Amino acid sequence: MTRLRTVHVCTECTMSTPKWAGRCPSCGAWNSLVEDVEEVGPGATSLVALPSWSPGTTADIPLPIGDVDSTESAPQPTGIDEFDRVLGGGLVPGSVTLLGGEPGVGKSTLLLQVMTSVASRGRRALLVSAEESKQQVRLRAERLGPLATGLWLVAETSLSNVVAAADRVKPDLLVVDSIQTVADHELGSLPGSVAQVRGCAHRLVQEAKQRGMATVLVGHVTKEGSLAGPRVLEHLVDTVLTFDGERHHALRLLRAVKHRFGSTGELGLFEMGDRGLVGLADPSGLFLGDRRLGAAGSVVVPALAGHRPLLVELQALVAPSSLSMPRRSTSGIDGNRLALLAAVLDKRCGLSLAQADVYASVVGGVRVTEPAADLALGLALASALTDIPLPPDLVACGEIGLAGEVRQVAQTGRRLAEAARLGFRSAVVPKSAPDPPPGMTALRAGTLVEAIAMLCLAEG
Ligand code: TYD
Ligand code: MG
Repeated sequence: MTRLRTVHVCTECTMSTPKWAGRCPSCGAWNSLVEDVEEVGPGATSLVALPSWSPGTTADIPLPIGDVDSTESAPQPTGIDEFDRVLGGGLVPGSVTLLGGEPGVGKSTLLLQVMTSVASRGRRALLVSAEESKQQVRLRAERLGPLATGLWLVAETSLSNVVAAADRVKPDLLVVDSIQTVADHELGSLPGSVAQVRGCAHRLVQEAKQRGMATVLVGHVTKEGSLAGPRVLEHLVDTVLTFDGERHHALRLLRAVKHRFGSTGELGLFEMGDRGLVGLADPSGLFLGDRRLGAAGSVVVPALAGHRPLLVELQALVAPSSLSMPRRSTSGIDGNRLALLAAVLDKRCGLSLAQADVYASVVGGVRVTEPAADLALGLALASALTDIPLPPDLVACGEIGLAGEVRQVAQTGRRLAEAARLGFRSAVVPKSAPDPPPGMTALRAGTLVEAIAMLCLAEG
């Protein structure tokens, strides 16, 4: 009969000893002993293969905070600027990132571009393609640009083969596309099951940390928005990114919903074209291209996407309703915000929407959920209701309270500067707002009623 015992094995000379020591008694190397388990008895072999990474397997040593090496977790740029922007600079070696998104949104395309860029910067990248063949991946890569020599491909679904491929290639960046299609046969459950997805991810997280290998796991999200499987991974990984966009728009948005190495406020913007995704470094005027000037119900709001101001057009349409419960429909706007503004317009401004169907949307496939858009939405509703258009070179930004008061929002100065840069000449802002940039007039309003009166949409 065999039984197990704990031993300490030297990572330099593989000598094993039952007792731990700071220095190997055989070869004299310092701190080279790691814990292992071995069978004792006839025909016994070491159960755990000697790991090639000694530091990760020894107990962690407490250090004063000033002595901790922070350069290890410095992000390394991938060269895809919008991707790096969302990650606060790039991928951190040894970190694990989950990229979620609906099928067809462009996750594989994005990562292929990221890997090609990483590989062309002299680092090595390994793509585990568990859904597509190597030929398919190559064809797509050719469509995207020149092939990079440092980019390796393996079409595998078995976790142990994935680890073996990483052993061979020793990549700086590993991408697994997708985590739902790899399986660990030792786990027994079906591929794609929660146990499999979690088990495989857990192992890949360990591998990433031990090798200092940045890892990206792709996770498909179902239409209902739940990360089928990957949602259960969110606590396991360092960073969770979501990639989404409207099906009928070329615009794609990349966001971090969890990020252990930085902020989650940044937004990455891409456009899907014939040759893959193109980053939109200066998106602020992007959504104003087809604007019809002089249309009632349209107001431009300088919104903030992460740290970048983004000018978007809010549109409202108010039509007489024959329904007992008139319709309220929004796209890109929070429905609760619309309900609140309709109530404020009714109670505080004497503009009733009770007998009308109301549609409100943000043009261009973006979502604007910040309260800074309240004032613009309120004005758009008033303009739509009265059928009086607002000046085409006007922007509005401010939050609206339940009393109908207009409140200050963060970064008003930067928002107005961007609006001025794009040619807007007047801005409806709260009383307390900073002075607008030269060439722009501030229309200061204490309440929504005042703003509406100032713009001659109704009697004050
Ligand atoms: P893909 O990256 O395969 O999506 P995912 O991995 O999220 O499922 O992208 C699929 C879509 O992107 C597909 O409908 C075709 C489109 N696409 C382009 O429009 N241009 C391109 O250059 C590429 C590679 C894909
Ligand atoms: Mg894919």
